[in-house]
Amino acid sequence: MIQGGVPLQGEIAVSGAKNSALPVLAACLLTAEPVVLDRIPPVRDIATMEKLLEHAGARVTVDGERVTVDAGDIRHAEAPYNLVKTMRASSLVLGPLVARCGRARVSVPGGCAIGARPINLHVAGLERLGAVTRQEHGYIEAEAPHGLHGAEVYFDRITVTGTEDLLMAAVLAQGETIIRNAAREPEVVDLAELLIKMGANIEGAGTPVIRVKGVSKLHGAAHAIIPDRIETGTFLIAGAISGGDLLVTGCQPEHLRALLGKLANAGVEICEPTAGALRVRGNGLLKSIDATTEEHPGFATDLQAQFMALMTQAEGSSIIKENIFENRFMHAPELTRMGANIRIEGRQAIVAGPTRLSGAQVIASDLRASASLVLAGLAAQGETLIDRVYHIDRGYYQIEAKLAGAGARIRRTA
Ligand code: EPZ
Repeated sequence: MIQGGVPLQGEIAVSGAKNSALPVLAACLLTAEPVVLDRIPPVRDIATMEKLLEHAGARVTVDGERVTVDAGDIRHAEAPYNLVKTMRASSLVLGPLVARCGRARVSVPGGCAIGARPINLHVAGLERLGAVTRQEHGYIEAEAPHGLHGAEVYFDRITVTGTEDLLMAAVLAQGETIIRNAAREPEVVDLAELLIKMGANIEGAGTPVIRVKGVSKLHGAAHAIIPDRIETGTFLIAGAISGGDLLVTGCQPEHLRALLGKLANAGVEICEPTAGALRVRGNGLLKSIDATTEEHPGFATDLQAQFMALMTQAEGSSIIKENIFENRFMHAPELTRMGANIRIEGRQAIVAGPTRLSGAQVIASDLRASASLVLAGLAAQGETLIDRVYHIDRGYYQIEAKLAGAGARIRRTA
């Protein structure tokens, strides 16, 4: 429940990146020695990944945001349907399990609200490294009884978890692997940094070509993951849309330059007062800016819904194009219920503003759509009640406490 119209003031600290924690946790399967991870946000998707690791036979110890994984004894090289169906990123254990155990049985993730999201590119990449795969009864079975070998792999389409899956397979393959058309997300770089600490030989993470020289085994390590750039962007937009003055701390501005540029072009005052902090001031007048989602370092698809909420308050019309997923405008009809003026034409949404938003009962459909409804609720007159808010708990740690700490009138109802 959100009572809108309150400008956010004060400070919000961001948590570790969910989309870095997921591959980094999966990477622990690659060694028999313990790995100590810090700044792991205790959100639902992370809990699911931890269950997956335990199902495989690893021992997982959680102490606040510190997680220790001891995968000394892998008994089941598999990711079962009941876990994968709740989190498609479970496919991230595919590469590590084949690399460590020579085989893996992973439930094929079904579609999800935002699109079909197949993992064909993950599988094709593993086959290039010598895995033999087949799909049966909704499971991918991959075998490499004599181990994986290095290869040149070209991704037909840039895939974040596909790049991460393959990177984790290649580090233990015999010989050199070159991954071309690799994803350049900061989370890929973060994973590579952990793998290098574990003894892997990787060059070029963060660029379109990643070179990996396989090693025979990896050892334990300690690693603190990067801050969540999507959470950072969400809070910056919260400061802007509520007309507040908000300091977002513990972030890495370098990871969200595309959003920072868009907000500046829209007339939002943004500055970097100290390292790792961003200050945002919403001074009311906003100009409509177009946005097209692209792979990193372009404008992030995970910030598209949040940006759309902001554009409902901007003067003029904003054209928002979603190039990454085929169905990622489900927040639009809910924003329209609150008074927004949004027209969907295929892969693009035209947002006419400014429109006065009024609080309403709305339904969350996926993680980032939920965030955009929270943002609209902050700006709306009156009360907004968001149903199915469990979606937001997948990727935002204590969002209502963080926003309330900056003055938002937000609470979780029964
Ligand atoms: C990652 O998903 C993120 N999840 C997503 O964040 C994010 O939206 C997405 O990257 C794009 O940035 C994690 O990192 C855990 P892709 P991923 O593979 O890796 C198609 C969130 O809100 N594709 O880069 O699954 C796919 O359908 C989540 O935190 C294939 O066709 O995305 C999509 O259209 C949502 N075949 C496009 O590529 C494949 O084998 C990009 O997907 C793989 C992908």
